[in-house]
Parts: sequence; structure tokens; C-alpha cells
Amino acid sequence: MKCIKKTIACVLASIMILLCGCGAVNTDTKPTESKKSASETTVKASKTQRHKVIIDTDAGSDDAAALVLAATSEQLDILGVTVLYGNVPLEKAAKNALMTLELCDVEAPVYIGAKKPLKKELEEMISVHGKDGMGDQDLIHPKRSAEDGDAVDFILDTIKSDPGEVEIIAVGPLTNIALAVKKDPDTMKLCKRIWVMGTTGFGAGNATPVSEFNVYSDAEAYDTVLRAELPMTILGLDMCSIKEVMITKNEMTKLAQGNEKGVFMSKAFTKLFAFEQENGMDMMIPDPIAVACLIWPDIVLETKSCYGEACVGNDAAYGQIIMYQKGSVYEAMPKIGSYNLEVVTKIDTKLFMDSFMSVMTD
Ligand code: RIB
Ligand code: CA
Repeated sequence: MKCIKKTIACVLASIMILLCGCGAVNTDTKPTESKKSASETTVKASKTQRHKVIIDTDAGSDDAAALVLAATSEQLDILGVTVLYGNVPLEKAAKNALMTLELCDVEAPVYIGAKKPLKKELEEMISVHGKDGMGDQDLIHPKRSAEDGDAVDFILDTIKSDPGEVEIIAVGPLTNIALAVKKDPDTMKLCKRIWVMGTTGFGAGNATPVSEFNVYSDAEAYDTVLRAELPMTILGLDMCSIKEVMITKNEMTKLAQGNEKGVFMSKAFTKLFAFEQENGMDMMIPDPIAVACLIWPDIVLETKSCYGEACVGNDAAYGQIIMYQKGSVYEAMPKIGSYNLEVVTKIDTKLFMDSFMSVMTD
């Protein structure tokens, strides 16, 4: 029901947009062609300061590419990796994360997290990354095992031990993060920022026309995290589906002829690339783009400050994230505490692809 009202509000907003022939309705009546509107800020990561991060991942092949970028970056101290269900079942996610860290000679601890969503039953999704999540190329033989501790406790203990300094990179469903918010909301308020690959951004979905996979997997988790109004930078699927940041046969060939990481990734991408090609598409690699926004801040050309609401009703809108842009007024405005989301709306595609390929081939 809740989402139907929101959908009506979106329709009303669209009618208003059509009537006034402009972008989102701004309260600002003067033309703002010269100055950026209130919603068009650009929040970038610091280039000088190293970032202490926890990486939360459902460890499919694009997650592995994200882990490689993170593990080889001078900008990041990986304090730990927490895994959960998503692209693959939980146990495989742990092994894939361990194997990828081993490839990069990084000893960061790996903690086991959620094996299913907060509320709904775990849905068997098409395993587009292959049964093992890494191209079914017999790549995954990690020497190390995951730690005995629990992912949610690790997240909370780490943030509590260094208030205001720890950032989270979340590139899977947000179930672990939501469990941490539910268990100790005050500690989670001490998290410096959450860098998320998730939502459709301002584009179309891949799980449904209106929902992106990480949200669709557990929209209740997104609802919990969004209501906590933590500082978040969101890389939506819209940025990942820009042609210039998608992997074509050309990049796959270069990866296969690249360094040890490039060869590993070309194999891990085998199934995902084949799946996309069968559908006449090149291959999206969402998760490394999310990490890139943090380690190569100049990639982020523009962000929009937003407040987000998750659709969790039992209807076709399930998993849609409604983004209310700062500076816009809608007919059905919710109570907004803060515009805590920086949604990435423009990226330097060439800088991303050149930097990504250089990590994998130099
Ligand atoms: O929709 C893309 C996201 O879903 C990526 O994080 C991918 O790894 C899957 O988790
Ligand atoms: Ca992922």
C-alpha cells in the first residue's frame, strides 16, 4: 500500500515535470543554469588520507575485481572483509573472498555474515557468475579459512574501537549492515561513511525493471539502513551501465594477457561475460566502480544529495528505492531528517577504465 502512494507521488511529480518542462521541481524559482542546484553537490573521498575500510561482499566475480582494486590500493587499509549470501551461497562467498585476498597477498581477516535476507526466504537467483561465483574455472582453493567470529560483531567492534574513522564498502545485499544497525544503532552512527554499490541510481533495475539486485535481495535491509540516515555514497546501476565502463571482448582479451590478477579476473569473469554476450550485451562490473569512487576520487564528477526510501511492500515495486533529491519539492513529501545519500550521477568513464585495466595488466 505504502508503495502505491509513493508511486502516485512519482506519477504526480512526473506530471509536474511534464507541465513545467524542467528537471525535478526545484523550489528555486530563478534559473540556475550557472550555479549547481542544491542537489548537485559533489562529495569526493580524500586523496591524501588513507581510508580504514571494512569490505562487505557477496563475492561474485565483480566483487572479486572490487577486492583486487581495494587490496592493491595505497589509499586503503582493509581492516577486514565480511561476507554474506547474494551472488552465491554464503560458504562460497567466503572462499571466493579468501582466494581473492590470497591472490593479492593480503591477510585481512574474513568474517562470516548473513546466510539469508532479514525477512523473506532466500530466493534461488540465476547464478550468472557460475556455480562457484567465479566462472567455474577451478580457481578457488584458499589456504586460509574464515575467522570464528561473526561478521556483525566484527563490524560493530571495529567501528567502536575507532569512532568516526572506519568506512564500509558494501557491494552486496545490505543484510549484514542492517543487522549491525539493529543490534547497535549508536555504534553504527560512528561509522564514517558507507560506500555502496546498489540501487538503480536514477536508471533501470536488473532484478526487476525498478529494482537492482543488491536491493531486491533484501529490500528490508535497505529500509533499515536508509532509516538510520548514515552518511552514504551510492553508486547505482545507472553509472555501471554506461557503455564506456563495460567490459567488451577487447578488455577480456587484455585481461587474459595481463598480469596474475588480470588472468585470474579473465577466468573469474568467464560465465558472467558469456551470460551477458548471450543477451547481446557487454559485461557490467558494478562493484569495482564503487571501490574506484573511493580510491580514485577524480572519477566522481558529480553527486546528488538525496533522501532515500525503500519499497518493501508485497507488490511489483518491491526493492525500488525512491530518491528524493535535495532542493526538490514533491507533492507527497515524506518526513525527511537529512539528505544523507550522495548518489553518484556523473563519472569519468575513461579514467575508470584506464585505471582498472592498468591494475590488471601493468
Ligand atoms: O546489481 C549488481 C550487484 O549485484 C553487484 O554487486 C553484483 O556483484 C551483485 O551483487
Ligand atoms: Ca556484489
